[in-house]
Amino acid sequence: MADEPKDDGLTGAFYGPAIPPQQETTAAPRGRPFSKHEFKPYTLLCTAFKIFTLVLITVGLIVLLLWLIYQPKTLKIQVQDASLSRFNLSSSNLTIYPNLTLNITMRNPNQKYNVNFKRIEADAFYNGARFGFLILPNFRLDKKNTTTLVFSYVTPAVLIGDTVRTTFNREKSEGFFYIDLKMYLKVRLKMLIVQSVEYRPDVTCSLRLPAPGNATSAAVGFAVTECDVESFS
Ligand SMILES: *[C@@H]1O[C@H](CO)[C@@H](O)[C@H](O)[C@H]1NC(C)=O
Ligand SMILES: *[C@@H]1O[C@H](CO)[C@@H](O)[C@H](O)[C@H]1NC(C)=O
Ligand SMILES: *[C@@H]1O[C@H](CO)[C@@H](O)[C@H](O)[C@H]1NC(C)=O
Ligand SMILES: *[C@@H]1O[C@H](CO)[C@@H](O)[C@H](O)[C@H]1NC(C)=O
Ligand SMILES: *[C@@H]1O[C@H](CO)[C@@H](O)[C@H](O)[C@H]1NC(C)=O
Ligand SMILES: *[C@@H]1O[C@H](CO)[C@@H](O)[C@H](O)[C@H]1NC(C)=O
Repeated sequence: MADEPKDDGLTGAFYGPAIPPQQETTAAPRGRPFSKHEFKPYTLLCTAFKIFTLVLITVGLIVLLLWLIYQPKTLKIQVQDASLSRFNLSSSNLTIYPNLTLNITMRNPNQKYNVNFKRIEADAFYNGARFGFLILPNFRLDKKNTTTLVFSYVTPAVLIGDTVRTTFNREKSEGFFYIDLKMYLKVRLKMLIVQSVEYRPDVTCSLRLPAPGNATSAAVGFAVTECDVESFS
């Protein structure tokens, strides 16, 4: 034992245990004595690989099973409050001057999954034309948890469309503006250490907002609005 250790760099870790004499016998037919130092690492590597593969398959099956049992529920998104303190259309062109502040809640109804937001785009539309574009900061929404997001659209924008002015004038005289909030989300669900593929659910919130300066409409106010959220699939 003492004279052979240095000749094989791979063997260093496997010294020590008693050598069963049978191994010498089985190795004998190959001409050169089949040293335990060459044989054992290979067997161990094989066994380790088999175990690794089995563990991988088992983990995969468990994840698949859990996924089937705990189908993820879609996010619950509500506009709690929305106020339009300015919404003027230029008389000479289709520039809109908005001041829209939104307060929305996002709820993760799942008991097993955390939701990691990878991108939150929130756009505002009037009469089908986009006048607001925001990228909100990403965050993580824990299981059974709710968060509130508050953001505003104040940048003037040029609306596109032939019907913008007629719609605007009609809605102003009726006392309520109809604005759509659309959110384009990229999320991954996470259970323990397992992360899902990326989902891209779209969200639509159809808002009915009292026209600024109209006291009758302001008295009616804004009603909490449930958003339409695409499911995870
Ligand atoms: C916008 O409309 C408000 C009334 O709602 C008015 O007081 C204000 O002067 C208007 N601003 C512009 C820039 O037209
Ligand atoms: C639109 O009209 C406003 C005045 O109401 C003016 O300040 C603005 O520059 C005009 N915008 C465009 C794109 O013509
Ligand atoms: C928007 O309205 C809020 C009040 O609702 C006001 O505090 C803020 O200064 C306004 N912003 C702009 C750009 O008009
Ligand atoms: C958002 O709206 C809710 C419900 O109206 C309110 O309790 C909360 O204080 C609001 N949050 C902010 C930051 O305005
Ligand atoms: C929401 O998450 C916080 C930590 O981010 C946690 O302390 C709290 O218990 C969670 N709420 C619920 C209802 O699980
Ligand atoms: C104010 O809104 C009411 C409906 O809430 C509408 O009947 C009325 O015409 C509006 N007033 C003006 C000046 O546009």
